[in-house]
Amino acid sequence: MSEAAPSHDLSKRRKIPRIPLAKMLARMIREPRNERVDMLGNLRTLYEERGPVVGANAIAFKMVHLFGPEANRVVLLDKDRIFSARRPWMAIMGKIFPNGLLLLDGEEHKQHRKIMHTAFTRPVLCEYTERMNPIVADAIGQWTEAGDDFHVFPAVKSLTLDMAARIFVGEKLGPGTGRMNEAFEDLVAASMSRIRLPIPGLEFHRGLKAREFMVDFFRAGIDARRAGDRGDIFSRLCRAETEEGDQFSDQQIIDHMSFLMMAAHDTTTSTLSSIFYELGRHPGWQERVREECCDAGKESFAFEDLESTPALTQVFKEALRLYPPLPVIPRIATEDFEFDGYLIKKKSMVVISPIMTHHMEEWWDDPHCFDPDRFSPERAEHERHTHSWIPFGGGPHMCLGLRFAEAQVKTILHHVLRRYRWSVPDGYRMPVQQAPISRPMDGLPVSLTPIG
Ligand code: HEM
Repeated sequence: MSEAAPSHDLSKRRKIPRIPLAKMLARMIREPRNERVDMLGNLRTLYEERGPVVGANAIAFKMVHLFGPEANRVVLLDKDRIFSARRPWMAIMGKIFPNGLLLLDGEEHKQHRKIMHTAFTRPVLCEYTERMNPIVADAIGQWTEAGDDFHVFPAVKSLTLDMAARIFVGEKLGPGTGRMNEAFEDLVAASMSRIRLPIPGLEFHRGLKAREFMVDFFRAGIDARRAGDRGDIFSRLCRAETEEGDQFSDQQIIDHMSFLMMAAHDTTTSTLSSIFYELGRHPGWQERVREECCDAGKESFAFEDLESTPALTQVFKEALRLYPPLPVIPRIATEDFEFDGYLIKKKSMVVISPIMTHHMEEWWDDPHCFDPDRFSPERAEHERHTHSWIPFGGGPHMCLGLRFAEAQVKTILHHVLRRYRWSVPDGYRMPVQQAPISRPMDGLPVSLTPIG
């Protein structure tokens, strides 16, 4: 396939197959939930019926789906600097999370990422991971109280929220932080809400109110955090400085903190739920990763252990392949460009699909099957293309928190595997809502038994 290079020979360009607006609207009216629940099914239909480049005339803009790893490579690496992440993400979440890192482009994005990186270096990640252990050990001790009625999703969500409060903001959850949790939940919900009108009572309005609260909360803490030496992410961003002396302003700290907490929270909760589900269905794999954790003989999980847990790494990768928390990644083209012989016009919203690529038979053996060994060094299916496995995106906007996420997921699993066994009933299939962030629609009920 060709790269995003300009071509001047118009006769060679193919016509992009388009889904008519009327057809799209009719489907949205007929099946309003389907787009979120079975995004993979919808994308697959487009791909099978119309091919790797499919246009859709949405109301506000022209949309073009590009399918497959080569499209992912071209769009994510963005060698010609012709794709804006800011424009689509602003339209999606700009009112709630304005100016988060993902909502910046070009030089400004590069400079902010460099400053923010100082809060995600290896020594700092080692420190965060160390802090995660007692929080997890504490929280999962109470899981038995749920008895037979244990739902993974809410339990994990509450745990990751607790971790966010402690590690991101340096606050312990409690009466004083109650409003912060609530505000944070409202923010996340509003960023995903379908109706984006500031009408009292609606999710979106609650999100705007929550944003006001979070802005005040962060603003009130900045001076003290700048002057102090605390190790949470908020304090580190307040003090962050590059070698060139660049620092964040107060407003930038507020915007980055709000976005970071959102980016970290639901994605990790989603990944953990997927892993719990698959390990609940595959007791052999559950035992294999448990043995790996127990053989290490360590009570706590350390950041260095990320490299010495091969089975858990394979499970982590396979869960992210089957259930990528972000099923699609949008960009807006700032120039006309050509892909695979098709001319794609400036201002089009270009959408690539981790979820679709991760299930393409051209790139994966038996792609719907949970098979972590596909990531083993012997099989290494993910190496068939540099961009066939992209749960964390790629290129300039590649997830800044991917090692943090891996450390968080593995720390939680390290503790849970040593303390509990769990299973799902025979024949149970987790009902998944795939978009905007993948999650189990039933909360994922499992049977949880303490070990020993
Ligand atoms: C399994 C968990 C996670 C997944 C699957 C995930 C996925 C992603 C993806 C796909 C993007 C790129 C979106 C795009 O290119 O449009 C992204 C960006 C980002 N993520 Fe994550 N993420 C996860 C966890 C985290 C965590 C824990 C943090 C913070 C601690 C984080 C912080 C960020 C930030 C700051 C960006 C924007 C990077 C930039 O624009 O330069 N993420 N994430």
